[in-house]
Amino acid sequence: MAETPEQKIDEGRRDFLNEFAAGALAIAGLGAAVVTWQYLSPNVLFEPSTTFRAGSPDLFPVNSVTYLQDQQVYIVRATDGFYAVSAVCTHLGCITQWKPEANQIACPCHGSKFTMFGNKLEGPAPRPLPHFLITLTPDGELLVDKLQAVKPGQVLRV
Ligand code: FES
Repeated sequence: MAETPEQKIDEGRRDFLNEFAAGALAIAGLGAAVVTWQYLSPNVLFEPSTTFRAGSPDLFPVNSVTYLQDQQVYIVRATDGFYAVSAVCTHLGCITQWKPEANQIACPCHGSKFTMFGNKLEGPAPRPLPHFLITLTPDGELLVDKLQAVKPGQVLRV
């Protein structure tokens, strides 16, 4: 028995609705899969290491202050040895700058000034600049650990 034109139209409409529903289900399923994948994936925060090699001690002349921009640390080599001094101001966290002409570390934000060892000279900073543990690696390079604050007088003699 042949289909009437109305039956053909109904069948076409039904096919269209079936394909539309299948497409909508596929999109919803894909969305659910993405959300599930994100939920099950571990939330890992990749932060830079707090320990870093600063290189050979020979790179730092005696009585020098070297700013390591990527670490925001000064490597200070005095006559008695090495110090690792934070470059982050203890007032509001601005990055200080070494001013060799004044032999001082200065904060550009509110004018705090520090000696090359981070001792406060003037300004609103409430504390001296922190010192970090500085040691030697087995192969003779300077190693700084920014998670380990040390007393300002602690020196690495090389
Ligand atoms: S942040 Fe350095 S003086 Fe204010």
